Amino acid sequence: MSSSSSIESILTENRSFPPPAEFSKDARVKTLIDYESLYARAERDPEGFWAEVASDLQWATPWKHVLQGAFPTDARSPGVTWFAGGTLNASVSCVDRHAQSWRKNKAAIIFEGEPGDTSVITYGQLHREVCKAANALTALGIKAGEFVAIYMPMVPEAAIAMLACARIGAPHTVVFGGFSAEALGDRIRDCGAKAVITADGGWRRGQILPLKDNVDKAVEGTTVEHVVVLERCSNPIAWHGRDKWWHEVVDSASSKHEPKAFDSEHALFSLYTSGTTGKPKGILHTTGGYLTTTAYTTKMVFDLRDEDVFWCTADIGWVTGHSYVVYGPLANGATVLMYEGAPNQPGPDRFWDIIAKWGVTVFYTAPTAIRAFMKWGDEHPARHDLSSLRLLGSVGEPINPEAWMWYRKQIGGDRCPIVDTWWQTETGSIMISPLPGATPTKPGSATRPLPGIDVDVVTKDGVSVGANQGGFLVIKRPWPSMLRTIWGDHERYVQTYFSEVTGCYFAGDGARKDADGYFWIMGRVDDVINVAGHRLSTMEIESALVSHPKVAEAAVVGRPDELKGQAIVAFVTPRSGMVADDALAKELREHVATQIGALARPEEIRFAEALPKTRSGKIMRRLLREVASGSAARGDTTTLEDQGVLEKLAQSYAQEE
Ligand code: WT7
Repeated sequence: MSSSSSIESILTENRSFPPPAEFSKDARVKTLIDYESLYARAERDPEGFWAEVASDLQWATPWKHVLQGAFPTDARSPGVTWFAGGTLNASVSCVDRHAQSWRKNKAAIIFEGEPGDTSVITYGQLHREVCKAANALTALGIKAGEFVAIYMPMVPEAAIAMLACARIGAPHTVVFGGFSAEALGDRIRDCGAKAVITADGGWRRGQILPLKDNVDKAVEGTTVEHVVVLERCSNPIAWHGRDKWWHEVVDSASSKHEPKAFDSEHALFSLYTSGTTGKPKGILHTTGGYLTTTAYTTKMVFDLRDEDVFWCTADIGWVTGHSYVVYGPLANGATVLMYEGAPNQPGPDRFWDIIAKWGVTVFYTAPTAIRAFMKWGDEHPARHDLSSLRLLGSVGEPINPEAWMWYRKQIGGDRCPIVDTWWQTETGSIMISPLPGATPTKPGSATRPLPGIDVDVVTKDGVSVGANQGGFLVIKRPWPSMLRTIWGDHERYVQTYFSEVTGCYFAGDGARKDADGYFWIMGRVDDVINVAGHRLSTMEIESALVSHPKVAEAAVVGRPDELKGQAIVAFVTPRSGMVADDALAKELREHVATQIGALARPEEIRFAEALPKTRSGKIMRRLLREVASGSAARGDTTTLEDQGVLEKLAQSYAQEE
């Protein structure tokens, strides 16, 4: 960040923006006092509060217990259940009840493909399509409890596929289309998926993502029996006995489907996310609790109305796409916009063109995108009529005050409130966020926890720290959309989230709370890095690097990056006899892209004869981070085994720059 922008950050950090009166007037929660009394009500009686929220869904049979159990303390404790004894079908709450109401002819999904093709699907149509897809999956022999992997572009059929899985009780695991065949294969193997739903390809920056080719490689030697292929780009693909066209199996299926009700704790989906080891974690979410909190937070945080056109730009391959493209908005009977492609295709104003064209009212995106828009220039949004917008949202990483101010002015016309929402794959839904009609905002702060959510900043012993002191961000009480386990590794679940800080869910983020009780997220305190809002594990990239025959050792760190938040820098020690040159660097970057996906490709590879290690052999990533970000290593280096290593690394840096 330039020095003028950091001065601006300091100046704006303590600025507070009251919710616009125009917005508060009709908002669901109109004042800070109303927010506080709602929060207090939830705190007094959490179960009563969540029971009331859950009754917004359509239940087949009522629950017997709102909350049972507590945060697990060891691998044998089962953990919590929400709404036990209750049964429901998630697709009924998201689709059927709207299709059977006045919303039957209301747009559920407005779709725009990257090439410019568009379609609008009403709730009535969505209902028929979900029923057909559910019948098609059942005809293929998919049963409740069997995983289905979804590897698709951002097209309506992706949402239909998710809802169809939910309808038959088959948990889905959506894999982002940017992940490689290898990464897809790992996820399929981990959950034992029986089928994959994909497309021949998807459009991205005018190019075709070869989704089906990747699936062909990924499913070899796995449990997958069927691959259902949507025709999207009509690109040439190979065809195997396990393959079936979507238009053949789905279009011909019956549009009548009697939904079965599942237990509230029935698995709805797993979603893989990076942790501190080399192996991604299958975060498991269940039905009743997940849907309760996603539906509730969508309604409250986005102050959702029936007239809204809600656009969350996240891909369905991320939790944001699950909760705020599919389940949350549809449970509310909202109109969602889905866009398939890149924000700068064909030009840097594509998003603004879409907002003006469809009259988008609520826009939810990531800081990394906002910073890219800033760089591309103010003239692009200025060319379009953005007056339909009434609310803006941000998610995925801390938003720097400079980007916040730009977003407010250039996109929101100084008129729209901004909700900076903090949450995680694990939390399932938004935990800390302003309520747009009630909470004064401070650029860079996600403000305060939502009613029903008990967050704090604590020391390792679980003791609250004072105002403006750094500590660990924790959640102190179970909430309905919390993850229930890591698929196949309950021990890792307990270890990762409930062992670090006594009696709490540990989020992995550092934070501080200011004197007004506002939370300022300071980023990950573990070996997880956040690149353009995508979560990556340094260990995962390191294991990809050391799997290359020319690599002896590797250490990966994040360095601050103006656009992406963090950029990946890999320190690599080649095997002896290998030439450390640009060609090898290129080869290694490609290798990581093949192993994980283009999003994990290191920005920079630095060759080093040796890596800085402690006497016990632990790589000192803190020192590497400092070297990577160009600052001389500060702090304690007394545990460093070979002081010379650090000097050499710093010198190699000085020479390069
Ligand atoms: C991590 C979770 C939640 C959907 C997208 C990412 C960071 C997320 C914010 C925010 C500061 C944020 C945290 C968190 N993060 N939102 N508003 N302010 N940091 O989900 O991949 O599970 O990543 O993203 O570090 O732990 P995810």
